[in-house]
Amino acid sequence: MADATQSQAMHLINPTHLQDFVQRILIANGTQPDSAAIVAKCLVAADLRGVDTHGSNRIPSYMERIRQNALNASATPTLRQITPVAAQVDGHNGFGFVAAHKAMACAIDMARTFGMGMVSVKHSNHFGMSAWLVQQALEAGMMSLVFTNSSPALPVWGGKEKLMGVSPIACGAPGGQEWPFILDMAPSVAARGKIYKALRRGEQIPLEWALDKDGNRTEDPAKALEGVMLPMGGPKGSALSIMMDVFSGVFSGAAFAGHVTNPYDPSRPADVGHFLVAIKPDLFMSMDEFKERMDYLYRRVVDSEKMVGVDRIYFPGEIEMITEERRLAEGIPFAAAEVASLNREADLVQVEHLQTQVMNE
Ligand SMILES: NC(=O)c1ccc[n+]([C@@H]2O[C@H](COP(=O)([O-])OP(=O)(O)OC[C@H]3O[C@@H](n4cnc5c(N)ncnc54)[C@H](O)[C@@H]3O)[C@@H](O)[C@H]2O)c1
Repeated sequence: MADATQSQAMHLINPTHLQDFVQRILIANGTQPDSAAIVAKCLVAADLRGVDTHGSNRIPSYMERIRQNALNASATPTLRQITPVAAQVDGHNGFGFVAAHKAMACAIDMARTFGMGMVSVKHSNHFGMSAWLVQQALEAGMMSLVFTNSSPALPVWGGKEKLMGVSPIACGAPGGQEWPFILDMAPSVAARGKIYKALRRGEQIPLEWALDKDGNRTEDPAKALEGVMLPMGGPKGSALSIMMDVFSGVFSGAAFAGHVTNPYDPSRPADVGHFLVAIKPDLFMSMDEFKERMDYLYRRVVDSEKMVGVDRIYFPGEIEMITEERRLAEGIPFAAAEVASLNREADLVQVEHLQTQVMNE
């Protein structure tokens, strides 16, 4: 299989232009303008952070879901307050981004008044990169927990069939002078989106990521997608995935236990569930003291003695934040095939093509 970095030209796209392009495609496919703005911002946030697997490249599969009536682009999520610190959002099969954004906004409001807020979301869809929700909470100065379930991709420990999702666990806390803490990780060796990305770009995948349908390790992304993802840390990764299903699926009233639909399957609604918590960092001490302690933790981590062969130690989320700074200044790289695929979506709804700049070798 060819290495895409050699076989495909890479293009740089201005992030503001990309967000506007994505927003226009969404609106042309029936999404309300305010919802389209949220979805476009979240997708470009992933592109900016280098999480290319969960950014604008997802537009063709999301639009296909709309065309097949599997996702309701114009749905408006509704919110029911259960207790002063707990609320439930029904996504009504609209974009997961829109339902989760509303849920986190409500969790933040409750946390401002009561110290914490917890929101459960049902009848939702894939919300892409979890870290954008952590960023939403950080922008309001809040700590957060962000859980979601997802479609079957992972066997449970000891099993061989796809049952649990590669469901990411994310959380965050603000820093003072230093970077905030942003953990966002799938409980598999690699996120399944990385296999879709390799397939799009004609690349191979590392042997440790997945098994083909016969249970053999494979470097071929197409065969890996027919098989199963490997959980990180054996039974521990499998247990974390079950944990995401307990909090996001069982608890919320959404689909669970292997019944969430794959975002690339346009045949029926996904019924994804999420679980979001916002926490005020200065519950037990002043905000200044909290931030000083976070900065101290940051320095202890990144200044830790390095193992052989390591030049620099990073805090969780730091690599992505550095990537974001660079991409904001230089633009976001896309493979030629990815640009073509986005432009095909644009043609379907008479939106102007992306303007790109071919990258120098
Ligand atoms: N919505 C869904 O259903 C779904 C499903 C799967 C994955 N995802 C998304 O896919 C994305 C990728 O997930 P992933 O597990 O492949 O992420 P990853 O393995 O790239 O990173 C996981 C975490 O480790 C940290 N990290 C990575 N390298 C590091 C280093 N050298 N030093 C210090 N920290 C480091 C990152 O900052 C991140 O917090 C996430 O944004 C996730 O939300 C979404």
